Amino acid sequence: MSWTLCVDFGTAFSKAAAAPSDAWARFNPERVRPLMLNQQGEGNPFLLDSAVFVDDDRILFGRAALARAGSDPNSRRAALRSFKTLLSVGDLERALNTSAPVSIDPHRMFSMRDLIALYLSHLTACIARAIGADPELSGADLAMRYAAPAWRSSDGANAHANITRLFGEAAALRLRLGADVLSPGGVGLQAARAGLDATRGAGAPEMGLIFEATAAAAYSSIGLENAASHLIVVDMGAGTTDIAALAATGGRLGEISEARVTLKQAGDFIDGVIANIALDAHGKLKTAAQQAEFWRVIMADMRGFKETLFATGRAALRFDKRIVKVAVKDLERDKDFRLFAGALTGAYERGIGALRDRALADGRREVEAIAVGGGAAAPFIKALVQRKPRNAGKIKVIARPATPAWAHAPAFNGNLAPVFPQLAIAIGGALAPESMIAARGGVSKA
Ligand SMILES: Nc1ncnc2c1ncn2[C@@H]1O[C@H](COP(=O)(O)OP(=O)(O)OP(=O)(O)O)[C@@H](O)[C@H]1O
Ligand SMILES: [Mg+2]
Repeated sequence: MSWTLCVDFGTAFSKAAAAPSDAWARFNPERVRPLMLNQQGEGNPFLLDSAVFVDDDRILFGRAALARAGSDPNSRRAALRSFKTLLSVGDLERALNTSAPVSIDPHRMFSMRDLIALYLSHLTACIARAIGADPELSGADLAMRYAAPAWRSSDGANAHANITRLFGEAAALRLRLGADVLSPGGVGLQAARAGLDATRGAGAPEMGLIFEATAAAAYSSIGLENAASHLIVVDMGAGTTDIAALAATGGRLGEISEARVTLKQAGDFIDGVIANIALDAHGKLKTAAQQAEFWRVIMADMRGFKETLFATGRAALRFDKRIVKVAVKDLERDKDFRLFAGALTGAYERGIGALRDRALADGRREVEAIAVGGGAAAPFIKALVQRKPRNAGKIKVIARPATPAWAHAPAFNGNLAPVFPQLAIAIGGALAPESMIAARGGVSKA
């Protein structure tokens, strides 16, 4: 049987999922395979931290990179994170060829492109390991896809070629670097440099591109008798919040381009706002050094802090003999947050407006709203998709659950549902029919 695998290379986390290639026609939820990319013991097994750390003589990936970066509070060295955002800049070629900042690469040995290729070789190795451990996937015929934000410029085909080339070099690099690329100790600097030089221009693999919003629409409509013909997707990840609207015309789901908005504020931005609120609440930290230490401590467990805050409305942290409390209400009162919330509502209403007009023109009165990404857990995102938009006019907006009922199937042992919104794009990308693919190709090379 042939399978389709989709990689979602995110700002904070990379994810991947596989599904039988005929899943769209014959959906069986139990056959969906989110891949356990993270085997470093800590963190969720489905979420691979998108991080690289250039150490004195080695390069570390994922959890190990973050642990190393956090191990020395006095160090000015940082792990490279959020490098995915680089892939969506206008002049991609130039952005990739700049050297990494000294705080990331004190040896001045690597360009941004090098570090992304190295990370992708780690990601590719994690995918290969997960496939190898799965009796049904190993040896099966696998079609590869990756998810990315929709192109904003006419240069999209070029970006696709660049990205598939990077994946091709990463695959060749993985084979060259061998087992080290998966080890917590990482790969030696010289081996990395030599590997990069030897694999440059290795040829692009055959890969399909699916736009992130389309992938979200695919998972949310699969297996439904009357799948929505018109929907709006809000994807709040770590790096960006993306709003997109889709409409089915002639059985094919397409994006309504006027509706698309990308906000540069998402999870990472919220983290900063929360840390500042907590810092103010502490009130006793006056020196820059004390504040930096507080910042480091709260950031180290921000995910847990935010999870508690969003789930219960409040969270607390002990620092320097004081207990600092933050409530969702404090967040909602914050000036920066309010600016973001205003922009978010504006962007959502703009999407609703375009979707409303299209739905009415197509003779429909109902549209669906769906939140995906880690931000789907945030109370303000839930409220956004659940309340009636001011400009809904004659249409009814129905919120779909972020986690579909089938994610609770016994086959997943309770592991999938809690992180489903973060895996939604990878899963949707694997389930989507060929007709939803935005680009394919690359130069296949054996
Ligand atoms: N249960 C939760 N409660 C609060 N925040 C959460 C929860 N789960 C995840 N997050 C946050 O979601 C963000 C990560 O989401 P996601 O994996 O969708 O991002 P990404 O795909 O890496 O980023 P992007 O889509 O912007 O490239 C992080 O900021 C994380 O702290
Ligand atoms: Mg994402």
